[in-house]
Amino acid sequence: MEALKSLSSLLFPGQAPTPSEKLDEPPFAHANPSKAIKAYLLERSAEFREISELRQRGWDNPEGDSFFQKQRQNADKSDDRTAAYFFELMRRIGHELHRSTGAFAVQPGSPHPNILDMCMAPGGFLDVALSKSPTSRALAFSLPASDGGHKVLLRMTSNVEIRYLDVTMLAADMGVEEVPKDHPDADRFLPRQLEPRQSFDLVFCDGQVLRTHARAPYRERREAKRLSVTQLALGLEHLRPGGTMVVLLHKLEAWDTANLLRIFHKFSTVKLLKPKSGHAKRSSFYMVATDVRSCHPQAVRAIDIWKAAWKAATFGSDEEYQRMLWNGELGAEQLLDDFGLELMALGKEIWKVQADALAKAPFIQHTSASR
Ligand SMILES: C[S@@+](CC[C@H](N)C(=O)[O-])C[C@H]1O[C@@H](n2cnc3c(N)ncnc32)[C@H](O)[C@@H]1O
Repeated sequence: MEALKSLSSLLFPGQAPTPSEKLDEPPFAHANPSKAIKAYLLERSAEFREISELRQRGWDNPEGDSFFQKQRQNADKSDDRTAAYFFELMRRIGHELHRSTGAFAVQPGSPHPNILDMCMAPGGFLDVALSKSPTSRALAFSLPASDGGHKVLLRMTSNVEIRYLDVTMLAADMGVEEVPKDHPDADRFLPRQLEPRQSFDLVFCDGQVLRTHARAPYRERREAKRLSVTQLALGLEHLRPGGTMVVLLHKLEAWDTANLLRIFHKFSTVKLLKPKSGHAKRSSFYMVATDVRSCHPQAVRAIDIWKAAWKAATFGSDEEYQRMLWNGELGAEQLLDDFGLELMALGKEIWKVQADALAKAPFIQHTSASR
């Protein structure tokens, strides 16, 4: 476990902490930046106030808990009927996203249209994208079913290549060629899958950590970060300049999500969507980033930071991991000064869709009736 203890020089080159600097202490005024963002939005946005009130009523009602628990249980089922339902649902969501953005069709004029799907199963998005751009080739990664991954239901053709692997173990692609031998996952890290100059016109980052995926204990509290930064770093690094990324995100008002949107805003055109076919009652939504200038200095910097975050989450101590979460991010005050108004504008529509869906949910309607 020596490997997990100290990798400061690898993670924070030239950034030795001063003796008085506690590693896990955010170097910003707000110790809880998400709380500060929430306070800002509550003061200024009627849509955010409405959704916050509805969410609170949902949390206060035990029926709300059982509704979401049932949704989670259904998502964990792996029988054929559930898998087919999930595939159709993903296709519907894909069509809905495409209708609003045109994102699933590779831009005309691309000589060799290529799609990368970082977490593909069951394959609904890729199915929609291939129907919009039938001459495209696709490379798709998918967690093996034996590790708890979903079944692939996409009809296979010669223009699609699937590699069954755990994307969070793509060490060589994430910049780590040599893995410490005493690391708990030492023999699970993977060799390079993407050539340095390999590029794609459209990248899907729709992975979600699965409860059915057996993992070493060190990963548990860090897995969501590991999965998200791997998809983002490799997706953006291998995106053709001017290409499109479709990324699943959670909770717009959370500090890390807001920072991510601020970063993408610097080098792409960002649109947020909450498909009504799925995600309507939950806080998840999609970012569709088009015209992504993937060679922009801010994009290159973001890729380096995500790779460093992956290294910290995979090899670092708790202190190193905590510190890395703040690396390159703005504290709440600066973030809101810089991006608060855009954040509010971006959120308006998705909070409205969630509010409309929650207002109709039985666990909210029952609380209204009993008031
Ligand atoms: C919401 S589903 C993706 C649906 C897909 N976009 C579609 O259109 O059908 C989330 C996916 O993330 C995958 N996943 C989760 N953890 C993963 C990992 N570590 N490596 C690869 N795939 C992973 C799951 O197996 C699942 O297929």
